[in-house]
Amino acid sequence: MARRGTPHDGTTRDGGMTGAANGSTRQRTRDWKVRSGMGHSLAYRASHTPQPTVVTDLATSVRPRPPSSAEATGAMIRIRSFLDDTSPPTPCLVLDLRTVRERYLQLAWAFGPTESRTGARLCYAVKANPAPEVVRLLVGLGARFDAASVPEIELCLSCGASPDDISYGNTIKKRADIARAHALGVHLFTSDSIDDVSAIAECAPGSSVFCRILLADTGSLTPFGAKFGCSASMAEDLLATAARLGLRPAGVAFHVGSQQPDPGVWDTGIATAADITARLAARGIMLPMLNVGGGLPGQYTQAVPPFASYAAAITASVCRHFDRVRLAAPRVMLEPGRCLVADAGLLRAEVVLVSRKSTVDDRRWVYLDVGRYGGLAETEQEYITYRLETPGRGGPTGPVYLAGPTCDGDDVLYQHTVYELPMDLRQGDPVDFLSAGAYTASYSSVAFNGFPPLVTHCI
Ligand SMILES: Cc1ncc(COP(=O)(O)O)c(C=O)c1O
Repeated sequence: MARRGTPHDGTTRDGGMTGAANGSTRQRTRDWKVRSGMGHSLAYRASHTPQPTVVTDLATSVRPRPPSSAEATGAMIRIRSFLDDTSPPTPCLVLDLRTVRERYLQLAWAFGPTESRTGARLCYAVKANPAPEVVRLLVGLGARFDAASVPEIELCLSCGASPDDISYGNTIKKRADIARAHALGVHLFTSDSIDDVSAIAECAPGSSVFCRILLADTGSLTPFGAKFGCSASMAEDLLATAARLGLRPAGVAFHVGSQQPDPGVWDTGIATAADITARLAARGIMLPMLNVGGGLPGQYTQAVPPFASYAAAITASVCRHFDRVRLAAPRVMLEPGRCLVADAGLLRAEVVLVSRKSTVDDRRWVYLDVGRYGGLAETEQEYITYRLETPGRGGPTGPVYLAGPTCDGDDVLYQHTVYELPMDLRQGDPVDFLSAGAYTASYSSVAFNGFPPLVTHCI
């Protein structure tokens, strides 16, 4: 089920090191205490080394700050009135398209007009939420798309995207899928291995290719581990091989890990990319682009910086490092997923059962009709801690374990993170997961234990 991997220490087999190693993140533990209900106050303590569970109340200093409170309030009003008016069966995801639109426009504003010479290219990472309504909306706004598979490419095309605006960004693909993508008109690929580059040269001749480099763990909440990318020296060879095989080397790509709270961590990848670009330029191979991936966050239980901070940090790094190697700045490509859709979504669940394991147990088990397999896959290792609300219940709260409805022992959402829910919470009560628009519907299983996939209502 895991999409992400354990953090990588930054070293590669051929000695390449594409970022500062940060082994401490491997031991990161979180003790959270999240109180929910009408007041939905919030407290947490996050630490990098195991600590005894002492809950510190930091409610005022760590309350998440939405990008614009008016915008967030408007979205919640629209979503809640949809739920009140239609009472849809639960679990379900309600996605506010106006918020997706706002977030896209804010991001485009922060990174410069996409059609100007200096503006970044925004390629929506479809995997974050593949609802056709979202893709159609973004096509209308002039977005490009990062697709992970042929079905995602077909989805984008069916929603009106031009194949020129679709990048096949998955480094792991069958030859037949490369050929199919090429036949559909896609001619931009990302790779990280010689075999894949050879397959692209054979099955999609003349295409453009990014090479993804492997970064050290950068402290993102959902790291990729060591699964993707290669060392800087291998990337240089790979792009030179691509040119030799008749492909067009597009540039270096990297991803700093999803839900990345630190705008400064792009710097290492950009520095490495500038060095690779300069070494290839010296060999007569010019790279016109730089793909800085996704990673911009949604608003969960931690405060995160605004888009402008990411744009400023990334743009400054690009200018500094390409100046350093005496090259013109390349066209920057961004693959935002989570940050465009997370805050647009509310996942409504229902309490199936509240129980205790013994009469002296003061922490209740709250079983919901949605769990890890119904869309909340990112609660694995409690990486993502959603803000919760319990409409209609606002009394005193107490600690709970939160679990899903299946007969699977791993279907537990939070046991280390201590959520507090109202003491009067009962079977049949609604529980809302906020900022749940990303990596939920696309993760839900088709019928694990007979439960149907998560339904999305776009409003
Ligand atoms: C290649 C690639 N680009 C972009 C993204 C989107 O990342 P995020 O949702 O953190 O913006 C992903 C996510 O897995 C990815 O694999």
